[in-house]
Amino acid sequence: MAKTPIQIFDTTLRDGEQVPGCKLNTSQKLIIAKQLDLLGVDVIEAGFPVSSPGDFESVMKISKIVENATVCALTRAVENDIKVAAEALVNAKKPRIHTGIGTSDSHIKFKFNSTREEVLKRAFSAVKYAKSFVEDVEFYAEDAGRTDNEYLARVCEVAIKAGATVLNIPDTTGYCLPSEYGAKIKYLMENVKDIEKAILSCHCHNDLGLATANSIEGVINGARQIECTINGIGERAGNTSLEEVVMILKQHPYLDLDTNINTQMLYGMSQLVSDSMGVYVQPNKAIVGSNAFAHSSGIHQDGMIKNKSTYEIIDPKDVGVTDSAIILTARSGRAALAYRAKNIGYELTKLQLDVVYANFLVFADLKKEINDDDIHQIIEKSSIYEQL
Ligand code: KIV
Ligand code: ZN
Repeated sequence: MAKTPIQIFDTTLRDGEQVPGCKLNTSQKLIIAKQLDLLGVDVIEAGFPVSSPGDFESVMKISKIVENATVCALTRAVENDIKVAAEALVNAKKPRIHTGIGTSDSHIKFKFNSTREEVLKRAFSAVKYAKSFVEDVEFYAEDAGRTDNEYLARVCEVAIKAGATVLNIPDTTGYCLPSEYGAKIKYLMENVKDIEKAILSCHCHNDLGLATANSIEGVINGARQIECTINGIGERAGNTSLEEVVMILKQHPYLDLDTNINTQMLYGMSQLVSDSMGVYVQPNKAIVGSNAFAHSSGIHQDGMIKNKSTYEIIDPKDVGVTDSAIILTARSGRAALAYRAKNIGYELTKLQLDVVYANFLVFADLKKEINDDDIHQIIEKSSIYEQL
């Protein structure tokens, strides 16, 4: 039976690009958008057109080149923002306007000096106005993570009544626990009138390191779209990481949830975004970090050489990484040394390995990581062929 599709909404070029000091120029954005389209994302959030002429131009140009994905533009619940977004999207094959307003008491009081009733009216008018330009309108309830569920359900109902096709439930401040965020989505699925007319979307921030877990809880509880960025980049601690949610759904098939992503492009995508923005990927980053498939302790290396499933839950090739790496350090054992030596042409007998391993340990204590040249040197200096 076919799995339930989860839409992947990539916001690398909008929320992701809000990383301080990491602005992309239009041609870099176009390259990334083209690759995201090939990667198989369902929606590309291309920018916030009213924010600057540069952003307007990027959304306009991205709209022209994207073949398959929906192209989305962000607005506030402000008529001029919506009009400008519609102009920027005019060439998109599948345009979407993403409009919304803060719904938590904190946003209503401190940002808008307004009331809950007034915010309901603004939400309705914004969606209605956006609908006069495009069929596909997504509504975001900013700070939904800290908005009480009963009021949030009313906001969603108003947005559906005005014609919203997607309801974005952002945990804007990354505050929710996975159980809370999952319960919020469940509550909305069960209590919003006419919920079947729209889908719920998870948009989680990573302030407490929970963005990925929250998004997964969201889709387990009925949401059908995840908003995310490559490498999890974004303001403050970032957004949900695309590669993480995609691989979680792939590696847990019993969840019966699937995405359209070509996972073999994930590593290349990560490198492209990292290089374009000048933001390096932390080595221990799940899926795409340089250590994600590197094994350095003797016990793990021994297991890996016997069978990769002992310490790897993902085939590195599935995410575009050539192979796992056995890193030689002072904590490596004989098996790893013999394996690496064999890879560069030395078939060592047990006795030869004993000699080379003793010399290797002396060398490895002085150096963090032993490379192929070092192995050559250690073996040649061990003079094992003459000795044995
Ligand atoms: O985090 C957030 O609430 C947002 C909205 C503007 C969608 O990015
Ligand atoms: Zn956000």
